[in-house]
Amino acid sequence: MAADIEQGRQKLAWAREHMPVHAALRERLGRSRPLAGITLGVCSHVEAKTGVFVETLAAAGAEVVFTGSEPGSSQDDVVAALNEQDGITGYARRGVSEEELEALHLQALDHAPRFILDDAAELTARLVHQRPALLDDFIGMCEQTTTGVQRLQAMARADALPFPAYAVNNTPMKHEFDNIHGTGESSLTNLLLTTNLLLAGKKVVVAGFGDCGLGIAGKARALGARVAITEIEPRQALRAHMAGFEVMPMLEAAAWGEIFITTTGNRDVIRAEHFEAMADGALLANAGHFNVEIDAEALAGLSVEPPHEARPGIMEYRLADGRRLHLVCEGRLVNLATPTAMGHPAEVMDQTFAMQIVAACHLVERAAGLEPGVHPVPDQVDREVAELKLETLGIGLDTLTESQQRFLDAWRDDQIKGA
Ligand code: NAI
Repeated sequence: MAADIEQGRQKLAWAREHMPVHAALRERLGRSRPLAGITLGVCSHVEAKTGVFVETLAAAGAEVVFTGSEPGSSQDDVVAALNEQDGITGYARRGVSEEELEALHLQALDHAPRFILDDAAELTARLVHQRPALLDDFIGMCEQTTTGVQRLQAMARADALPFPAYAVNNTPMKHEFDNIHGTGESSLTNLLLTTNLLLAGKKVVVAGFGDCGLGIAGKARALGARVAITEIEPRQALRAHMAGFEVMPMLEAAAWGEIFITTTGNRDVIRAEHFEAMADGALLANAGHFNVEIDAEALAGLSVEPPHEARPGIMEYRLADGRRLHLVCEGRLVNLATPTAMGHPAEVMDQTFAMQIVAACHLVERAAGLEPGVHPVPDQVDREVAELKLETLGIGLDTLTESQQRFLDAWRDDQIKGA
């Protein structure tokens, strides 16, 4: 069935309306065109906010080729509405197999991008591994998620990162907002839409108390859920404890919880021994980047009959003793891959993608002077986007007075008194 292009245009228009930082960047970069002459590869969940991001990169002068990250998260109508625009070409489809996703990535790489804006280093890893001839002209890349930064660091350790990469995920403007508030709100929103169940009073287990886990746990508690955390890192476990959450190993949590949400960036966090301990009706969802956090193969192995769709986006597995366990969208990103999923709220992605754009412009300018490897984004770039975001919110700031600055710079007693 042909994608509904008008619906795609409408989705883009709504997102544009709610992404004022991008509007400001489109105007500013549309004048200076810092990406002119560069073919730029974008790999992300191609829905409307990503569309506005792509449009803004094109306005900054780039020839943009985009592709999907994760097989279930792109929206065909948005892809079609982007593909009709000048300077933009895309290869993404919803519900593709892993093999089809790879083919789409390779089609994007056929355009020989010289810079990549990536999600989980998916396109970058393929470029290095499968299209090394493109590396001669390659400038660098920006990475927006935790898993991707980990992957890039693994590539650097293996001497497989012959260009500079900016860890955009690690900037305060990204991970303190996108991971905490974006993942927190959108994971719960989509879980509730997909299940049509109540969170208040439920026992929710969140695996991993990093930024995403903290966001999901805090917001679930705010909606009335009782929340337990599982962790492998002692300080994160203590943080969760002192934030007032129950902390326990997964084996214990498995028997306690009713809803399970993984957010570790790791694999097999919920596996056979845990399924064995769960109560009838337990609901399993994942918010980490890859669909390996819940061991779906082991769940299928325990199941006495083929799983069936209990509701769109939810598969029911029946175990030998009659218990039924429910897996949401095959353990793929709950906020992006469920039938009604729309990803993070627009205001959050306005900020995240603005970081990617401003960081990309910065890296394009200084890549020649940087060693290959993973680099932090300079704090000034982060600050610039924060100032722009505050401006769009109409929020003012105080500035340091001269005596305050002198006081902060002082270290001797007499300087401090005289400041
Ligand atoms: P993080 O590194 O801040 O937190 C991960 C936490 O999981 C750490 O505290 C770690 O100790 C813990 N952990 C690791 N293995 C564990 C295990 N076996 N059991 C329990 N805890 C374990 O990472 P962050 O930023 O919270 O990201 C988590 C995942 O979510 C990543 O894959 C990231 O790419 C993804 N992500 C997803 C988003 C979405 O839209 N759904 C948005 C942002 C990030």
